[in-house]
Amino acid sequence: MSCYIIEGGNRLSGEVQISGAKNAVLPILAASAAQNESTITNVPFLSDVSNTLEILEKLGIKITTENNTVTTLGNINNTVLDKDLSQKMRSSILFLGVLLGKYGEVTIYEPGGCQLGDRPIDIHIWAMEQLGAKIEKYDDKIICKGKLKGKEITLPIVSVGVTENIILAAINAKGTTIINNPAKEPEIDDLINYLNKCGNKIYYNKNSIVICENNKSHYCEYSIMPDRIEAATYIAMAASTGGELFINNVNIDHISTINEIFEKMGCIIKTDINKIYVDAPTKLYSIPEITTNPYPGFPTDMQPQIMSVLAKTEGISIIKETLFSARNKHIPELNKMGANINKKSDCLFEICGVKSLKGSTLYSKDLRGGAALITAALGAEGESTIYGVEHIIRGYEAICTKIGNIGGKIKLIK
Ligand code: EPU
Repeated sequence: MSCYIIEGGNRLSGEVQISGAKNAVLPILAASAAQNESTITNVPFLSDVSNTLEILEKLGIKITTENNTVTTLGNINNTVLDKDLSQKMRSSILFLGVLLGKYGEVTIYEPGGCQLGDRPIDIHIWAMEQLGAKIEKYDDKIICKGKLKGKEITLPIVSVGVTENIILAAINAKGTTIINNPAKEPEIDDLINYLNKCGNKIYYNKNSIVICENNKSHYCEYSIMPDRIEAATYIAMAASTGGELFINNVNIDHISTINEIFEKMGCIIKTDINKIYVDAPTKLYSIPEITTNPYPGFPTDMQPQIMSVLAKTEGISIIKETLFSARNKHIPELNKMGANINKKSDCLFEICGVKSLKGSTLYSKDLRGGAALITAALGAEGESTIYGVEHIIRGYEAICTKIGNIGGKIKLIK
């Protein structure tokens, strides 16, 4: 079993370069299966990306990769997704809209991904039915068929994946589709920008997204947006170690809500066009309440990492997690390090700040929980061993090299 060994207590300082966003590149790569040739740049080298490229190859798409650039070319020759690969990631559900919309049929499997509580796909299925698909379910296998027709759809809850799936399906449906109450995460804008660059017509109209019918696309070159969660995780690491970092290749508009919280904790944050400077004091303040919410609210994908920082503040902080009922598996691990975090319920957490954390043997059970343990271990006294590397490499490109370059002591043991 691979693990990270971290020698805590070293103040991080220097410059870190942020990679392309995981949650933008995965839908864009899926979308490329139904577009003309695409050259996609700023692609982060992550295990979820390699899995998606393998899915595309198994569908018949020709892939070439060079450094952080991926070219996708050709038509698919089958509409059945690879079961093992799809069950490794949640984003494989996006091939539902891509293939159903373009080819009128697809066989998918219940997707995998981080175990964050119930993550049903009921609304994905319902949305495809709204567009005219017929769905048959056999255990974890789902067969979908139909010539889709554009429609006005009002989402019952704000969902990133469902919004993306409808867009992906609707570009090839007959007529116009309108999504009311869509998710508005920047990663959705990135998908829309990519598709529009391929020749599609998708736009916002007040609180709705309008998708026009388009059956042809052309060559497109597209650069993936910077990963706002990776950038914010490095701010958390600076805060955890009393460090000072210059964080490059960031869209600062995407992380203003997160920056405000770090500022309230006492960090000095300065921003330039695509850079952030963070200077963290050794003593930080607690935050009375943080509630996770869809964009532009505080992102659930930063909840575990901010908790690691709050664990060492003076006073009591409260976190309310509103999206995932089991995004709390990092709590017992942080408590092993000497944190005092009480789970009032599966989604309500009371963090009573302690003076310091101590290194320990820790188990990461999901991606962001793993990033939280690294954040805590970097600022803790002594050595930590963190298992569950496979979760962390799904979302953080070259994490050991990046942390090493800014003075953190981290080793990957295979
Ligand atoms: N939901 C349903 N039924 C559905 C779909 C969603 O009940 O059919 C619920 C979910 O269980 C959840 C809520 O709706 O309670 C919102 O989930 P959403 O669909 O927005 O999440 P997602 O599309 O599955 C993406 C990101 C997640 C991120 C969430 C929320 C990707 C590949 N994943 O997931 O990223 O937490 O949006 O912002 O884009 C991560 O990067 O660590 C990660 C988990």
